[in-house]
Amino acid sequence: MSRIVIVSNRTPGKGPAAGGLAVALRKVLSEREGFWFGWSGKLTEQPARDARIEDIDGLKVAQIDLSREDHHAYYAGFSNSILWPSFHLRLDLATIESHWYEGYRRVNQQFAKALLPLLKPDDVVWVHDYHLIPLASELRQLGARNRMGFYLHIPFPTTDALYAIPHHEELMRDLSRYDLVGMQAKRDVVAFTEFAEHQAPSTFGGHKVQAIDFSRTEVDAFPIGSDPDAFARLSVSPAATKMVNRMKRVLGDQRLILGVDRLDYSKGLPQRVEAYEKLLANNARLRRSVHLLQVAPPSRDSIKEYQETSDTLDAMCGRVMGHFAEPDWQPLTYVKRAYGQPSLAGLYRMARVALVTPLRDGMNLVAHEFVGSQNPDDPGVLVLSRFAGAAEIFPEGLLVNPFDTDETSEALRMALDMPLDERKQRWAALMKSAQKHNVDDWAVSFLNHLTQGGPDKPSATRDVLYLGSASELATPPNAMGSPTPPAV
Ligand code: G6P
Repeated sequence: MSRIVIVSNRTPGKGPAAGGLAVALRKVLSEREGFWFGWSGKLTEQPARDARIEDIDGLKVAQIDLSREDHHAYYAGFSNSILWPSFHLRLDLATIESHWYEGYRRVNQQFAKALLPLLKPDDVVWVHDYHLIPLASELRQLGARNRMGFYLHIPFPTTDALYAIPHHEELMRDLSRYDLVGMQAKRDVVAFTEFAEHQAPSTFGGHKVQAIDFSRTEVDAFPIGSDPDAFARLSVSPAATKMVNRMKRVLGDQRLILGVDRLDYSKGLPQRVEAYEKLLANNARLRRSVHLLQVAPPSRDSIKEYQETSDTLDAMCGRVMGHFAEPDWQPLTYVKRAYGQPSLAGLYRMARVALVTPLRDGMNLVAHEFVGSQNPDDPGVLVLSRFAGAAEIFPEGLLVNPFDTDETSEALRMALDMPLDERKQRWAALMKSAQKHNVDDWAVSFLNHLTQGGPDKPSATRDVLYLGSASELATPPNAMGSPTPPAV
């Protein structure tokens, strides 16, 4: 069986793995052999060309350092100030400094140069996320002929937003150098298809730009999940119970409304607080009987737009407190800190409502983890943004438009008033779906597609530009995958 090489910007650290994704990929590596490759987290003046190989809690990890300047252009610059906002349709928050592309490209080249000598000819390479779109191109340029897959953890943008990204043609051509591209949701595959269909050869800046040949690249939806059964166990573990008891002492009979998100503008946190404010304003009977807990660990805080989101949220939470709090009652708690999975599982289990209302999100695993953690005899209600990939998996949640704070506020009220029978029915359907889309099957399904490409799907090692018509391009044989997503 061929080895698996996982590549991502961040590598798993020491200690208990933080997320379900890291746990699932560790499992893949323990069963299939291989290693994890990525950035060490260190910045140095003159990074060594070769990777350092370490054993981290039984996992083989190869890492490289980056220079401060390259890292800034690659991570805070091109990845998180251009690609992230554009892919999340927030062009208003993008900072288009096209020179960052050079640093982004350089870091991808540095990854490729350090990874190549570690690769065996039949290793299968699985690259994760928007930081590393050009990696397959760079590896192939150096002569690698391995099968390579790419998984996009964030949404694929609309064509307009894509066109706002400097060098988007090169990036899309880079995507075509993978054998398999996985996306979170069907809507992402539709957006990709829209781009592939509408691209046409054009003349730009005096250069002839040819449409990109995706005929060797399979593109399909592989919705990621969590391990809901593990969350079910974790939610009654001693560590979770400790958190529940702590909270019960503070909350008494108040029902908990819970949000857990990185502090990111894509998560719709100000809109969420506004919806809660409206709930309290329109339903006086609920004051003193509900409490919103928003857990929001800070993220990417060197970027101005993230600092501004944080400031906005501070101000909004202060406003709601000032308006509704009384000496002996607080409407909300806002914690800018990360918690471990056991504590979160406890919080999920005691929450009457989970507010998962991103403005746009690849999948959103909080929704999956909340569902897994519920007490089957008294489950909470999931209020879920229709713009999260999870909405395709969880139609039994209360789906809302997070931009419409009246609608979210009304969904909150419905969730709080929902009779036990209906809560049980909805939760049973949600749990079934969470189990069906578990993270282990997701990883196996993607890797099976990637490794079993077969001889009719040779690796995309050639440099052929598509010269046919755009409509042929949209549906080349074996190119776009089946219209229905695989059963993961
Ligand atoms: C999202 C991205 C991941 C990223 C994570 C945390 O989930 O899809 O690739 O690792 O956010 O962001 P950070 O910038 O801290 O790595």
